[in-house]
Amino acid sequence: MMHGALEDITKAVGNTPIVRLNRVTQGLAPGVEIYVKCEYLNPGGSHKDRLAWNLLRRAEEAGLEPGGTIVEATSGNTGASLALLAAIRGYKCVFVMPDKMSQEKVSNLRAFGARVVMCPTAVDADDPRSYYKVSRRIADETPNSFYANQYHNPANPEAHYLWTGPEIWKQTHGDIDVFVAGLGTGGTVSGTGKYLKEKKPGLTIVGVDPVGSLYYDFVKTGRITKPFSYKVEGIGEDFFPSTMNLKILDDIVRVDDKECFLMTRDMTRLEGLFVGGSGGAAVAGAIKWAKGKKGPLKILVFLCDAGQKYVSKIFNDDWMRENGFLDEEPGIGVVADILHMRGKRKIVTTTPQAKVKDVIATLKQLSISQLPVVEKGKLRGVVGEVDLLRHLVSGGQKSASSPIHDLVESDYATVTPDTKLELLQGVLADARAAIVMERDAVVGIVTKIDLIEYLAKKNAEALVAKSDKARGAKPKAAPKVAPRKKAHKKANGARERRA
Ligand SMILES: Cc1ncc(COP(=O)(O)O)c(C=O)c1O
Repeated sequence: MMHGALEDITKAVGNTPIVRLNRVTQGLAPGVEIYVKCEYLNPGGSHKDRLAWNLLRRAEEAGLEPGGTIVEATSGNTGASLALLAAIRGYKCVFVMPDKMSQEKVSNLRAFGARVVMCPTAVDADDPRSYYKVSRRIADETPNSFYANQYHNPANPEAHYLWTGPEIWKQTHGDIDVFVAGLGTGGTVSGTGKYLKEKKPGLTIVGVDPVGSLYYDFVKTGRITKPFSYKVEGIGEDFFPSTMNLKILDDIVRVDDKECFLMTRDMTRLEGLFVGGSGGAAVAGAIKWAKGKKGPLKILVFLCDAGQKYVSKIFNDDWMRENGFLDEEPGIGVVADILHMRGKRKIVTTTPQAKVKDVIATLKQLSISQLPVVEKGKLRGVVGEVDLLRHLVSGGQKSASSPIHDLVESDYATVTPDTKLELLQGVLADARAAIVMERDAVVGIVTKIDLIEYLAKKNAEALVAKSDKARGAKPKAAPKVAPRKKAHKKANGARERRA
């Protein structure tokens, strides 16, 4: 062996540097410092190198032998890491990916000789066409195969418990107050978080989740709301993997695609850290969480993969513009525009203890179809006239005085004031309403009819401006949308068409 040489490339996994952020963090309180762990510098391109090592180690202990086939549902990084190990140890690989993944990731896997099967992104996790189901089927049908199953394999969090956590502890000598990670399978946060908390029980673990994923609402409200699609890759889920231990989290923050991608670009241009979208997401989330906190506070953010895989997307101005992520592209508006159109109005909510008859009276008085249910300042769900009606029909007169707590539903989605209306349209195709959350407070509720009213008003304004221009007249304000009944103006404004 040459002096100083490694036996093979897998020995270069881990020991990734921890680096201080200096520019994107400006504006945080004195003493609040953010550091990043550069997992994207691993030889396979991400933190999944650690996972692949442990998955294969455990599989080999259970009898897997070289020459067999590794099958996995992967958004790319786990595949890349498994492919690297497979190349060294003589396994074949079949990877199943959702079709939203970047071309670079697909090519990367094929470069290692892996077979890649693409599946539609926009189907439920239990749809037979989903990448979870297809990968399971391929594994079942392939002799001498091993289904890596990163979403349900305990070897996933174990990799981070045995390796990432101790490495961070050793590197920092325990001088860490907060650990922040994006939430995907949960392997990173559950394993690293468990180790760090065992070492320092007062340490805070913060998860970062994209708008559209299930985790945020579930942690905040215990409700399984309607997931919807988003562009950032590797984080957020539309189901609950058993590798995720949400109880390890002390807090969770939510970021939208635009925040993720602008921060990803800033990380590269201002800090020299060429990271992928989930790295930008984690840092954007960490900064959001840290705002308003007092120092001294040492925060470590986990950066999973590298920017190379996203040059055709996040680092491509055309792609960013087409998707409305660059400021010069206004699009049709954001949720805040709908709230603004309604004017200043207090959001009306109810509580789980409210009586059925009182909620019906409120819905009637305000001429709305549903109300957010809030308890101790926290969103608990929505209650709608359909739910109340069903209850009354089945329970008779007496049930009008019962509390609504069993009638609170989860078939809504939560969005932020910055959510684009193009996205809201898709959200409302599936959910009965979108509840607008700012930080953890409910600030509005929006339904299809609100979106229609907003767009109709916008179109009317555009038409007036166009005809003024054609006549050479000075632009004047568009006619007001037909005034609502007085009662409508009082609150929410989230109304569904009534029969
Ligand atoms: C780019 C990227 N970031 C973050 C994650 C989330 O990590 P974990 O699955 O350990 O929660 C993944 C996982 O697929 C990923 O590929």
